[in-house]
Amino acid sequence: MSVTLPHLLPLLLVILFHLLSYLRVSASSSPTSETLNLNRPEYFNPKIPPSALSISKKFEGSSDLVHLRYHMGPVLSSPINIYLIWYGQWTPSQKLLIKDFLLSISTNHRAAPSPSVSDWWRTVSLYTDQTGANISSSIFVAKEYVDHRYSQGTHLTRLSIQQVIDNAVRAAPFQVDHKNGIYLVLTSSDVTVQDFCRAVCGFHYFTFPSMVGYTLPYAWVGNSGKQCPEVCAYPFAVPGYMGGGGPGALSPPNGDVGVDGMISVIAHELAELASNPLVNAWYAGEDPTAPTEIGDLCEGLYGTGGGGGYIGQVMRDRGGRTYNLNGRRGRRFLVQWIWSPVLKACSGPNALD
Ligand SMILES: *[C@@H]1O[C@H](CO)[C@@H](O)[C@H](O)[C@H]1NC(C)=O
Repeated sequence: MSVTLPHLLPLLLVILFHLLSYLRVSASSSPTSETLNLNRPEYFNPKIPPSALSISKKFEGSSDLVHLRYHMGPVLSSPINIYLIWYGQWTPSQKLLIKDFLLSISTNHRAAPSPSVSDWWRTVSLYTDQTGANISSSIFVAKEYVDHRYSQGTHLTRLSIQQVIDNAVRAAPFQVDHKNGIYLVLTSSDVTVQDFCRAVCGFHYFTFPSMVGYTLPYAWVGNSGKQCPEVCAYPFAVPGYMGGGGPGALSPPNGDVGVDGMISVIAHELAELASNPLVNAWYAGEDPTAPTEIGDLCEGLYGTGGGGGYIGQVMRDRGGRTYNLNGRRGRRFLVQWIWSPVLKACSGPNALD
C-alpha cells in the first residue's frame, strides 16, 4: 500500500499533539526552583552491581532462606544519645555533612520531603525487645570530642579504638552515658584500622568494663576516600576491572566520595547497633561471633529492582548526583536498605510499590 498524504495526516496530528504536550510539560517544569525539582525526582536504575564486599555477605536473601531471630537481649528503646568522636583530621564541612545525616534520622526535626532519612529509620523502629518496646526514633547528637592529635597513632586496632573511647569519656564535658549513650568513632582518611578495606568498612560492638569502666555500645566507621573508595565508598567509586565498557561510578550526592560513602556505612552500623547493641538481640545465623544483622542482609541494595546483582532504582538530581533519601536543610543521601521484620525483605522508603 502506498503512503499518501491523507494517510499521513492523522499521524502528523498525533505527533503535533505530543509535541505540544511535551512543550507544555517542559514549560511548566522549567522554573529553576529547588522545590519543584525535589518534588519530581528523576528515577533511574543504574546497571551497577553491589560491591564485592557485599556479595561476600549473605544479603538480599529470599525470605525463606533468612532466619533472622531474636535472642532475648535489649534493643535501644530509649531516646538515643550519640557521642561523636572525630579521630584525626576533619574539615568543618565534612563534620557538618555527617551531623546533618545523624540529625535527619530523628522524627523530631522539621520534616524533610519523602522519601526521607526518618522514613528510612521507620524500618529499624519495627524491631522490639521481649517487653514489646520498639527501637527509639528519637536520636540526638549529645556531645562531640575531637582527637585531632591521633592519641593512639595513625593505625588503630579493635582494642585501641576502645582506648580512644576511654580517653574521650574521661574528658569533660564528654561523659559516660550508660543509659542512653552510643559512641561513634569516625577516623579520617589517613588513619588505617585493623581489617579496614579488606574485611570491613565499619563495625559495632560494646566496650569492656576492664578498658572503659562500662559496657557501652559503640561503632567505628572510617573515611575510605584515600585508601579503598572502590570497596567502602561504592558505588561512588568502582573497581578498575568494572571500568572498561561497564557503567562508571555514580556521582555522590554531596560531592565527597569518602564521606558520602561513609554515610551509608554509618547508617548500616547505627541500625545494627540499635537492634543488636550487646550482640544478643536481633541477628541471623547460629554463630554469635559472626552474626548476620539487619544491615548485613541488605548491604549493596538501595532501591526497587535491586538484587539479582544490582543496586536498584535510585534518584538523580539535575546535576547528576545520585541519592535515595532527603534529609534536613535540603541535604540528600544515598543509604542502603534495611531488613524489615514485617515484610521479611529488604525495605526502604524510596520503594516504588
Ligand atoms: C513497633 O513494632 C511493631 C512490631 O514490628 C510494629 O507493628 C509497630 O508499628 C512498631 N511501632 C512503631 C512506633 O514503630
